[in-house]
Amino acid sequence: MKSKDFISILDLGDNRVEDIVRKASRIKRGDTPRALEGKTVALLFEKPSLRTRVSFEVGIRQMGGTCIFLSNTEIGLGAREPVPDIAKVLDRLVDCIVARVFSHRSLELLAQNTSIPVINALSDEAHPCQALGDCLTIFEHKGRMDGLKVAFVGDGNNIAGSLALASSYAGMDFTLASPEQYKLPSKVWDEATKISKDQNTNLSWTSDPKKAVEGADVVYTDVWVSMGDEEEKDERLSLFRPYQVNEALVKNASSDFLFMHDMPAHRGEEISEGMIEHSNSVVYHQAENRLHAQKA
Ligand code: NVA
Repeated sequence: MKSKDFISILDLGDNRVEDIVRKASRIKRGDTPRALEGKTVALLFEKPSLRTRVSFEVGIRQMGGTCIFLSNTEIGLGAREPVPDIAKVLDRLVDCIVARVFSHRSLELLAQNTSIPVINALSDEAHPCQALGDCLTIFEHKGRMDGLKVAFVGDGNNIAGSLALASSYAGMDFTLASPEQYKLPSKVWDEATKISKDQNTNLSWTSDPKKAVEGADVVYTDVWVSMGDEEEKDERLSLFRPYQVNEALVKNASSDFLFMHDMPAHRGEEISEGMIEHSNSVVYHQAENRLHAQKA
């Protein structure tokens, strides 16, 4: 690790994505190390969660640790108390903070004001734990990651950004198909471009979903309205309409493509009714793999 924290895929450093994926795959098939014996983890969640909260709580317990769930109603991150004060108090009482926040800046403040690890459980900018679980899912189903082609169709959001970074580290080409104004943020694009140059992979953007999906090994999508974007709902739903992943679009992918979605999924919006149950869908494996990847 480049630092004590895991708030971005970049914190892992070069060639670590594949190491962690291989380790997660071993943990999934064998024993869980009791690495958290006697440790307490605070789960600080400003936004709702199903997969992330449950996979962290279960994983921490399986590794011998205990956890305390703190919802925003109790904590009031930055409202009831400034983030640095919360960080400095938790630093003295627990051994690790797993936080889901509206603003990525809150994670940086938690990290800067603690000596214990801070793990990103989703922010407006990144969802690195999801990207690791997704890489594990790809590795399990394809037997490799190197040389594969990932097409992400929809919003250039937190999920797309972390997946672009993780894919590039893992040797996979990454294409985003999105409306012009919903490309990856320039900071993420620049970081991913640098990694893809080093790893000799392709990173690209197109406004044409069909072009992105052409020959893809993985077709990935996520909600069009992320938590925190609710005010833009109507505008987003109409702008993203041509980006629905459906049976007609995935006909352009490689015949053994994987369909992926981090969930929650909105049938009739970013996916057609049948995509979750499509024979190429691995979405429930993705949800399970959050547990194994996070343990690793
Ligand atoms: N992009 C979505 C991911 C949910 C797991 C959001 O941030 O709401």
